[in-house]
Amino acid sequence: MTPLDERFAERDLQSLNPYLLGPFAPIADEIAVADLRVDGEIPKDIDGAYFRNGPNPRVPPKGLHHWFDGDAMLHALYLEGGKASYRNRYVRSRDFCDDERGALKRGGIFSRARDDGGATVYKDTANTDIVCHAGKLTALWYISGRPVRVDPLTLETIGEESFGGRLPGNISAHSKVDPKTGEFVFFDYALYEPWYAYGVASAQNELLHFTQIDLPGPRLPHDMAMTENHVVLMDLPVVFTEAGIREKLWRIHTDPKLPTRFGVLPRRGDGRAVRWFEFDPCYIYHVVNAWEDGDEIVLFCCKYVDNGRPLDPEYGPYAPMVNVLALRAVLTEWRMNLKTGAKKERQVDDAISEFPVINLAYTGRKNRYSYHVAIPDLPTQLFDGLYKYDLSTGTRTKHSFAPNYFGTEPAFAPRVGAKSEDDGYLITIVANADTGASEALIIDAQDFAAPPLARIHIPQRVPLGFHGTWANRSEMSARRA
Ligand SMILES: [Fe+2]
Repeated sequence: MTPLDERFAERDLQSLNPYLLGPFAPIADEIAVADLRVDGEIPKDIDGAYFRNGPNPRVPPKGLHHWFDGDAMLHALYLEGGKASYRNRYVRSRDFCDDERGALKRGGIFSRARDDGGATVYKDTANTDIVCHAGKLTALWYISGRPVRVDPLTLETIGEESFGGRLPGNISAHSKVDPKTGEFVFFDYALYEPWYAYGVASAQNELLHFTQIDLPGPRLPHDMAMTENHVVLMDLPVVFTEAGIREKLWRIHTDPKLPTRFGVLPRRGDGRAVRWFEFDPCYIYHVVNAWEDGDEIVLFCCKYVDNGRPLDPEYGPYAPMVNVLALRAVLTEWRMNLKTGAKKERQVDDAISEFPVINLAYTGRKNRYSYHVAIPDLPTQLFDGLYKYDLSTGTRTKHSFAPNYFGTEPAFAPRVGAKSEDDGYLITIVANADTGASEALIIDAQDFAAPPLARIHIPQRVPLGFHGTWANRSEMSARRA
């Protein structure tokens, strides 16, 4: 407990936290329901599943609770032959705990970190990202943690992934899968040295490459990018404070003296070969995509801009958390020439958007379309629609959710037999802010502003959460076999 806690009674701490209330409030049940009720029609040429990860505290939190501390719960929507089924399960990560005392011991972002054999460890929930690789799901943690394998069909936790015991550290959220080779490229960062590492695992789940990247100090990267032959790693000016590291407390700040640097490294390169490109300071949560264009690396991201909001005393001790989570970012392009060293940054649009996704078959290859959540100017992280961007022109089309419904990161599901990049569907889950009624939406990617083709009623509330992904049925079964 920090001294700030003492001004607030326990019941106030929980009622002041908007990320434990309304559309964010956790649910208790793990259910599986087939043949869901549908308004409209589920296209018969969708065959696979949408998965969404997010925080869902197993036991009621005590003391200060950060939204990032909740245990990971996966929600899955399976689509086949025009029918839908739903299942949700907790990810039984190493810090998942269903008794109150145990949960308290595991702490969280507002607590002092644990010392685990010299490593500074925060509660590791794997609640942030979800990736399909080698026929299984992998749940990944924001502060770089133990990757947890999950069966995509049952959502049962299989266990921690260590690539046959060869993984030397952890894996951060936003590691990527190469759609052509099936390779899994990943990064790891920590508050202790080595501060940053990069690695590759094969489609058969063997560790192929692992190398350390030299940074001037501990950093807080959140994403990376890959192209066919390179990766782009990030050194951003959001850093851990020395006092925070000394006291093992989660303390970060923006150091305005530091630049933003993108490190370009051949996919199997030694970390010493990384080539840094410096830009004006900015923070980036999420990459859209990257690719090679001749000698240039092209990188599209959502670039964080200050939300301009003052701390709101209404949220008591949660005011800083609420402020940071009021995401504001704009689509931005960076170009880096590997031959000449020339570099260029260009803001593509001024609309506020985040959580970008693409057709995953184009990861690391030149693509034209990205899909983002549209973020209204509200104090908490609520999304009222989706944008489809044409990256070649910078233009966007909006799909608005029904009034008072808020959504979560979508995924692009290619149509079976798709002929082009946007030949498919966007799938997302929305919830009514007052009633909690939750629906999965299927949106025609080529008729984006039109009403959803199908609204699939989910028989329980799905709390708003973090990242989602799509897996074709062949990716869930062929590689399993
Ligand atoms: Fe993220």
